[in-house]
Amino acid sequence: MILIIHAHPYPQRSRAGRALLAAVRDLPQVEVHSLYDAYPDFDIDVATEQAALTRADLVVWLHPLYWYSVPAILKHWFDVVLLSGWAYGEGGDALRGKHCLWVATTGGRASSFAETGTHQLPFHEFEAPIRQTAQFCGMVWEPPLALHGAQAVGEDEIAAAAVAFRRRLAAWPKVLADEDSPEIAR
Ligand SMILES: Cc1cc2nc3c(=O)[nH]c(=O)nc-3n(C[C@H](O)[C@H](O)[C@H](O)COP(=O)(O)O)c2cc1C
Repeated sequence: MILIIHAHPYPQRSRAGRALLAAVRDLPQVEVHSLYDAYPDFDIDVATEQAALTRADLVVWLHPLYWYSVPAILKHWFDVVLLSGWAYGEGGDALRGKHCLWVATTGGRASSFAETGTHQLPFHEFEAPIRQTAQFCGMVWEPPLALHGAQAVGEDEIAAAAVAFRRRLAAWPKVLADEDSPEIAR
């Protein structure tokens, strides 16, 4: 199962994230948790979230980049769901070996994520704390998917990103099968 943790405070105003989500939500193995819809008061049902994570092979974090990080509810989800003794620490093996794919949309264009650009750092510097959150919980970090310049790009670029995202998820069981195959293991 692929669990998409979707965090967008204004899904009706979303253009890029909405297109990405629409491109994959009909895939049979996909389950979507839209956090702002499910928990408008931030009262996250930890047991429900942990149960979904337990069923998942691949966890996707899909959100707009907000202040170089995740939207507030996804940070809160990290805080209350990824608990010591469950996600990390002694006996905290629930997520070990699961895969994590980060899918972010950004207002900044790709060229602005550079020492000489508006955001002054390459994009992978902002990826680091999110990647380490997953890796601290023993998850395998997949190459992220970023759609930069999300307000400025044309419909064709958004559609191309949506197709790429769908391809990644649709191929996912095949990737797992390859990993499990004895030929690869040798
Ligand atoms: C509160 C807030 C903070 C934001 N912070 C950033 C940021 O740090 N870097 C960036 O490139 N874009 C930033 N943006 C722009 C959003 O990432 C962008 O609008 C979003 O990815 C577009 O996707 P959407 O069409 O799904 O809303 C911010 C937007 C808001 C509202």
